[in-house]
Amino acid sequence: MAIATIKWVRDCARIIDQTKLPNKLEYICCRDVDTMWHAIKRLSVRGAPAIGVAAAFGVLSGIRAFKGQDRGRFVKLVYDTCAYLATSRPTAVNLFNMLARMKAVIARHPQANVDQLNKALHQEAMDIFKEDQKVCRAIGDHGAALIKNGMTALTVCNAGALATVDYGTALGVFYSAQKMGRKFKVFSCETRPLLQGARLTCWELMRAKIDTTLICDNMAATLMRQKKIGIIFAGADRIAANGDAANKIGTYMLAVLAKHHGVPFYIVAPKSTFDLNIKSGAQIPIEERKPEEITHWNGIPAAPRGVKVYNPAFDVTPARLIHGIVTEYGIIRAPYVRNIKNIISRPKETSPGVKVKDL
Ligand code: MRU
Repeated sequence: MAIATIKWVRDCARIIDQTKLPNKLEYICCRDVDTMWHAIKRLSVRGAPAIGVAAAFGVLSGIRAFKGQDRGRFVKLVYDTCAYLATSRPTAVNLFNMLARMKAVIARHPQANVDQLNKALHQEAMDIFKEDQKVCRAIGDHGAALIKNGMTALTVCNAGALATVDYGTALGVFYSAQKMGRKFKVFSCETRPLLQGARLTCWELMRAKIDTTLICDNMAATLMRQKKIGIIFAGADRIAANGDAANKIGTYMLAVLAKHHGVPFYIVAPKSTFDLNIKSGAQIPIEERKPEEITHWNGIPAAPRGVKVYNPAFDVTPARLIHGIVTEYGIIRAPYVRNIKNIISRPKETSPGVKVKDL
């Protein structure tokens, strides 16, 4: 079920404030780049594809107040705004890929004046927005082929409508399967420490009337041993050229368990989440977040004051544990180095819409 997670409304980027869910559905209007930077940093807008769109809209917010016709000053503002937004979060490569697209607009228009550049940047941001809508639906339709009637799937974090413009990647698979009339159930890991699974995935799936059961992260092994999980779908924040995939902390643990119990484990992500500049997951920068996310719960201390804390927000699942990567082009299988190169380096014109089933 589509949810308008992020949208350009008149002259501001309107986002759902996901820190308030599931208790309140509130929106924030990002009219300047600072508001957007902080929204990304504190996870009001989160999830790799949504962060990418937020970055593009953040650039529009950053140039909104520019006055005059000095091209040099305008171009400097665009570059400075991109550099600033790039410091908000380090792991999701969509952020950097979309900022690169916004900067490329400048390079493509060497003779354009400020008004023309402004228009071209708006157009690029809207293209990024619309592509996400289209790509997620293509991903969902490809992934839905993996869901058989009666199956129970497991997912982690939130790779849903709330992590994209409006449809989702891993949860998009469920939305497409539902549209196709499949009967299935979903278990959602709560996803410590920020509970994206409990707060966001359960909210979204229940809203869509998908049979959803919440579990604590440490219950996944038991469920797999009891043969209650038929398949696992997780999103990704960055996928290296060899197929290693960074996603929310705890994803790797599920992949190891899945291997042990013979459960197929799939990563679901668009082309914009691939980073072909890095050979393996070892090169993916992993965000470390503040200790209070673990030591406190809703402002209430949940650990002794002064305890040492380690809080990496993501982990890397090695490609050998991944059954397939569901993309807008179809499902990429091993050998990943060759297949990712062939599929993901395709020119833009042959992207979604090309019906390739299993690659
Ligand atoms: O810290 P978050 O909530 O931004 O982490 C999000 C995830 O790990 C998602 O699974 C990933 O970005 C894919 S979203 C389609």
